[in-house]
Amino acid sequence: MSSQQTSSALPPVFVALDMNEGAVSPLLGTLDGLNVGYKIGMELFYQSGADLVRRMAQDHAIFLDLKLHDIPNTVQSAAARIADMGVRVTTVHAAGGGAMLAGLPALERDDFQFLAVTVLTSMKAEDLRGLGVSDDNPQNRVQHLFNLARDNGITGFICSPLEVEGLHAELPGGTFITPGVRPAGASLDDQNRVATPLQAKQSGATSLVIGRPITRAPDPRAAAQAILDTLSHG
Ligand code: C5P
Repeated sequence: MSSQQTSSALPPVFVALDMNEGAVSPLLGTLDGLNVGYKIGMELFYQSGADLVRRMAQDHAIFLDLKLHDIPNTVQSAAARIADMGVRVTTVHAAGGGAMLAGLPALERDDFQFLAVTVLTSMKAEDLRGLGVSDDNPQNRVQHLFNLARDNGITGFICSPLEVEGLHAELPGGTFITPGVRPAGASLDDQNRVATPLQAKQSGATSLVIGRPITRAPDPRAAAQAILDTLSHG
């Protein structure tokens, strides 16, 4: 078991593995020994499944990002299976409702926590109107779903770097993991509203999710190390 796994502290960076399984091992070798965890999302999970997650969780802090959203009994059963995989954090949609969320905190441990997704950053006011949401302001909707999750015992959230400061102020002991992070001068790729790693940390982010600025860098190890250095000096 690695040093990342013996502590309940999360690594400062989760590297997003938005890639095929074949590309994972070389990247893990390249980043070996750095204090990073790995985010496994739907693309890799639906290709390689739970076995890969369990294997990787033996040596690394894993963020399993499957955004559960179903009836309470189904989500609770699925969440219990995920807890058994050894991952550190996993996502659920706050929009699944209070009853779905309320059953989850009992499954948490020192080294396993749920993160609620509020409003996907791809959603605009017109999308919320399309869903029949009466208040179509995305920020209000984020706040509403944040309150719902918090009131049902959820203390971890995935949120944009622009949301994290306000939410962290409302729940200072909470866990806030933020994607949409770009080192100064890096390509934005398809991200629109971004912050630098240090800005995100200073706004209250517990850990950052960073994909392409590391995985597609000419030297991924140097890119990851530079980000970790920035964070540790901030
Ligand atoms: O490569 P990049 O750093 O943009 O990757 C960010 C990761 O975080 C991707 O896996 C993406 O799906 C995820 N994410 C995001 N924005 C959100 C939620 C998740 O970029 N609002």
